[in-house]
Amino acid sequence: MSGVWWELDAAEVARRLGFADGVVERLAPVGGVGGPEVALPSDEVVGRLCARLGIEDVDRESLLAARPDAQRDPELWWVLNCSYRLLLAQMGQRRGGDPAWGPLPDNTGTVGRHLFVWAFLAVVPHVRDYHATIGLSDDESWESLRALGEELALSRRLTGRAGLDATWGLPMVFTGVGFRLGRLAFEREPWDGVLNTHVPAGREPLSEAACDASFDRAVEVVEQFPERVEAFACHSWLMDTQLAQYLPASSNIMRFQRRFSGFSDRVEADWAPLEHVFHQRYDEPVVPPALLDELPQRTTLERAIVTHLKRGGRWYNQTGRIRLPRASSRGKWLGA
Ligand SMILES: CC(C)(COP(=O)(O)OP(=O)(O)OC[C@H]1O[C@@H](n2cnc3c(N)ncnc32)[C@H](O)[C@@H]1OP(=O)(O)O)[C@@H](O)C(=O)NCCC(=O)NCCS
Repeated sequence: MSGVWWELDAAEVARRLGFADGVVERLAPVGGVGGPEVALPSDEVVGRLCARLGIEDVDRESLLAARPDAQRDPELWWVLNCSYRLLLAQMGQRRGGDPAWGPLPDNTGTVGRHLFVWAFLAVVPHVRDYHATIGLSDDESWESLRALGEELALSRRLTGRAGLDATWGLPMVFTGVGFRLGRLAFEREPWDGVLNTHVPAGREPLSEAACDASFDRAVEVVEQFPERVEAFACHSWLMDTQLAQYLPASSNIMRFQRRFSGFSDRVEADWAPLEHVFHQRYDEPVVPPALLDELPQRTTLERAIVTHLKRGGRWYNQTGRIRLPRASSRGKWLGA
């Protein structure tokens, strides 16, 4: 087989790069000659995009130093091109199954760790066009895409390396299925009935007024969709009902939680507050006691997370739901 990327297929790419089963097979349906070809933005355009997408300087520099090249790395270019095609093919489409994009193995180096970032940048004009069709404003569109800058920064803090690890949220964002409306972010589900709610990290508190505005706006946006949406759902450690034992009822997190009801499920997730609050990952099945002793204890939440674990408790992801109000009672999002 020749060295040109368009003559490759998933099996040949996996063989040449020594990938285990499952790394690139999901791209096989969009391989082949004749589909759209990715065109990467120039360094100058990347600089402007990074500013709009909240990509920190250190991540921008790593990204530019890891620009893929079709001649030098035809196999990686094949992966890049197919990732781009997949995003285009799935634009605006709710999908079942596992939406995660796993990381490329370490032997692909820094180009491999940044390859999906290049695919996301290449698809920006298309996802922005799609945002316009569902009525997002220009600002809402750019705000939604800032998830890329946030995830790059979080991933670097968690792993100590630039680039991306596994990501399931970004493919949703860059196919327009996940979007941000003010303080909260949302995501369409593959089935009818619910819109998923996310709480992006950030310096702005989770204030009641900001959440009201986000939910109100989400009710307007879902009216553009063909599917029927009857409720917001939120699956998160922020929905863990045990937080009420530690946080004051007046805290933003508890006020946010009280908007929701349900909470029938409980999925063990000590990792979630460790990642989201302390930016820490651990390999053992439980949080190592030595790590617990190192964590900062400045705020009520930091103390709550550590105290609970030290007492032998576990943290859980739970799912809360809010029924969408009827049109006549819009704007009434205050907690119970
Ligand atoms: C959700 C979030 C914005 C809430 O922040 P907030 O509006 O300040 O929340 P509250 O008013 O409920 O804060 C209550 C207490 O917890 C502290 N706290 C809240 N979030 C904190 C955080 N991420 N790190 C450390 N302390 C935090 C507050 O400082 C306050 O403690 P204090 O009174 O001792 O100062 C914030 O926790 C955050 O950014 N979390 C990460 C995002 C996340 O986990 N999303 C869900 C993913 S599944």
